[in-house]
Order: sequence, then C-alpha cells, then structure tokens
Amino acid sequence: MNTSHMPHAIRSAALSFIADPFIVGIAEAYHFEPDALIIFENGKIKSFGSFDQLKSTLPEAMEVKTYKDSLVLPGFIDTHIHYPQTQIMGAFGKQLIDWLNNYTFVAEQQFKNFDYAKKVAEFFLDECLKAGTTTVMTYCTVHPESVDAFFEAAIQRNMRVIAGKVLMDRNAPEALLDKSATIGYDQSLNLINKWHNKERLSYAITPRFAPTSTHEQLESTGALWKKFPTTYMQTHVSENLGEIAWVKELFPERKDYLDVYDHYGLLGKRAVYGHGVHLTEREWQRMYDTQSSVAHCPTSNEFLGSGLFNFEIAKRKDRPVKLGLATDVGAGTSFSQLQSMNESYKIAQLGGFALSSIHAFYLATKGAAESLGLEDKIGSIKPGMEADLVVLNLKSTALIDFRMGHCKNIEEALFIQMIMGDDRATKAVYIAGNLAYENVHS
Ligand code: GUN
Ligand code: ZN
Repeated sequence: MNTSHMPHAIRSAALSFIADPFIVGIAEAYHFEPDALIIFENGKIKSFGSFDQLKSTLPEAMEVKTYKDSLVLPGFIDTHIHYPQTQIMGAFGKQLIDWLNNYTFVAEQQFKNFDYAKKVAEFFLDECLKAGTTTVMTYCTVHPESVDAFFEAAIQRNMRVIAGKVLMDRNAPEALLDKSATIGYDQSLNLINKWHNKERLSYAITPRFAPTSTHEQLESTGALWKKFPTTYMQTHVSENLGEIAWVKELFPERKDYLDVYDHYGLLGKRAVYGHGVHLTEREWQRMYDTQSSVAHCPTSNEFLGSGLFNFEIAKRKDRPVKLGLATDVGAGTSFSQLQSMNESYKIAQLGGFALSSIHAFYLATKGAAESLGLEDKIGSIKPGMEADLVVLNLKSTALIDFRMGHCKNIEEALFIQMIMGDDRATKAVYIAGNLAYENVHS
C-alpha cells in the first residue's frame, strides 16, 4: 500500500466516546469537537483537540488534510462475522439450521484451498474498509489454510483483527469435521503459535457452537484456552429456538445453553458469544459474573427470523454485560455497521426501547473495543490510541444532504446517518494513521 502521500494530521468535526451511555447516560458518554485537529505519530494518535487549541503545536511542514461536511469517528469494530460466508449473503430460505445445512456448510468446503481462501479474504477485508470497519473478529473455516489466508490478507493491510479455525467434530458434512478432537486441538495450537500476537493479529479459539462439537472436543477446547489464556474464544449461543431445543437434547445434563460452555471452561474475559437473543436471566448473570461478552447481530437476527435482542435486559444497570455490535455476515445482510445500527434501532423499538444514536455508535466503537478487551488500543480517539479512524461524509446522498438541512445537533446528525446511511457515507479510512481507503465519489 502506497503511504507516501499520507497526511500526518487531519482537521474535521470529530466525535469519540469516553464512557458507556447505558451506564452514565447519553450526555456524559461522548466528546464532540466541531472543529478538531487529530495529529498522528508512528501509527498512533499523538493529539486530539480543538483546532484552535492545537494549531500552534503543528510542525510547520506538516501536511493537514481537511474534511468538510464530515465527521471523524473511531473506525467501526465488527465483533462477530464469518469471512467465508461473504459468498452466501442473501441466500433465501428458512431459519438457522436449514440455512447452515443448505448454504453455509456447502460454501465453507471451498476454503481448504488456500488460494481461493486468500482471494475471498482480500475481497472481504476491502469490503470491511469500504464500510468504515477497521477491526473484525471473524470465524474462518475448519481448514487451517483458511486462517493462514485471512491473517496474510490482514497483515498486508496492517489491520487489527481477531480470527480462528472453526472446531467441529459432529453434525456437519464429513469434509468439514475435525477428524478427531486431538487433530482440531493440534491444528489450533499450531495456528496460535504461528499467528497470535504477531503484528496486529490475535487468535480466537473457535468452537462453532455446542451442537457441532462432541463433549470430548469441548473439553479439549477448554484445555487449549487454559493453556493460552491471552487468546480469544468465540462461539454462538441462544440464537434460535430450534437450536436451543437441540442443545437441550444433546446436553440434557446441563442447566441451560450457556451452562454447556461454562462446564467446559469457556466463559471469561475475551470470550465473545454471538447472538444471545434468548438468554435467560441466569445466563445473563453468568455472562456478567465471568466478564464474558455478547455480540449483537441485528441484520442476521432479522434475516434468519431468530428473534428480537433485548438491550434493556443485556445492559441492566446492576449487571451490564459487555456488548458489541456485529454484522454476522453472511447471515447478516450488510457489511455496514451503519446498517447494523439502523436495524438494531428497529429491533429495540419492537421491544419497547428507543436506542439513541449515541448508544448505537458506542456499540460499534468503544463498546465493541471493551467487549474485546481492546479499549486501550482501539475504539476511541485520544492520545496513545492506534490511529484507526473512519471519516464519514455527512451528505453522502442527495436525500441525506437534504435531510441534514433540517438537523439541529450532533445526536440528530448521527441518528440520520445510522438510519439512512451505508457504505456510501465512508469518505476515508485510516489504518494506523495511513490512508487505507478513500471514496473518490464521496
Ligand atoms: N450458529 C452456528 N454456526 C453459525 C453460523 O455460521 N451463522 C450463524 N448465524 N449462526 C451459527
Ligand atoms: Zn455467526
């Protein structure tokens, strides 16, 4: 990537989060700077403040790129996504288990081929950047080649990503199964040694979900995480009622769905659970007690008819669970986190809760970073943070431009963007201070 013409500072309106709006309320949660200067140094943010205050600190030769009618935000973070499912987005028909069998388990077989996986990983990461997403936590497939391909593509873009080989040893086509729990363990261990903490990469131990792993595999997965406690653990939980009934049949000895994972030592910091649409109070409390995180996947939950996520329960003030926003592509229908926010607003409305723009943008930035334990590196704009930023064009379509003419304040402006905007609103993306994507039409 050519970085020679990259600016060292940008001037624009900018917004960042300082606290969780579900806990402190909207007004205390964010910092808005209508005319900000952000100075980069060595891939990090050196300073962030009002242009007037900071301009005297600018070295004379430093190039400043100015963005008008724009808003700079921390790059979006997608806490649950499947890069190999890019090719099955918008596949028609039925709910989770049928969709997995009819489309997902067919597509994922192609990822044994490294070259194929690499091409898809490249396309996928470019789509993420186009949507303003600078960090993803993604599933690969059961094939180690799919992980190598993904991490190589991420290194080429210098992106901070989390990924891992899917573990499955039952209830899926033969070609997608680990031949034994030991083989799945050994392959994951080799991948951890090869990739975890290399440059901006982290490894996630990835049992797909309880129904596709034997007791033996879940046990070895827990042992592996214990051996490498700084890695992540990602899986799915309580997405769909049929799935939950199936888990009950497969694990009758456990209290509930989450208790299956709990039994095998899979709860804790850096454990990220996709969906959690139908969790019980006991399970929410356990998520909170163990500091596990939930990835809310609105477009996917709607697309597969999974159900309505409940924000008020998830973020109940006496036990707020760490929550991040996610697309869950390919059951999710858009790479754009603006579109995820749009749908999460509607889901909240159907449950009697009005999700503000500040709540929604927090869940895609600082909230997501906190749910990944990365809040000291990404997810907000402040000195010392890695300079992963998105520049939103606030007038990306004629209709949004017109609508913005009737907008009173920044909270309204953000709301308009999340309801009406999509990847056309991404004007530019910075990765570690370098321009990584620019929308020439924007
Ligand atoms: N549960 C287990 N695997 C998957 C998957 O690939 N997508 C979704 N949405 N749910 C799952
Ligand atoms: Zn998923």
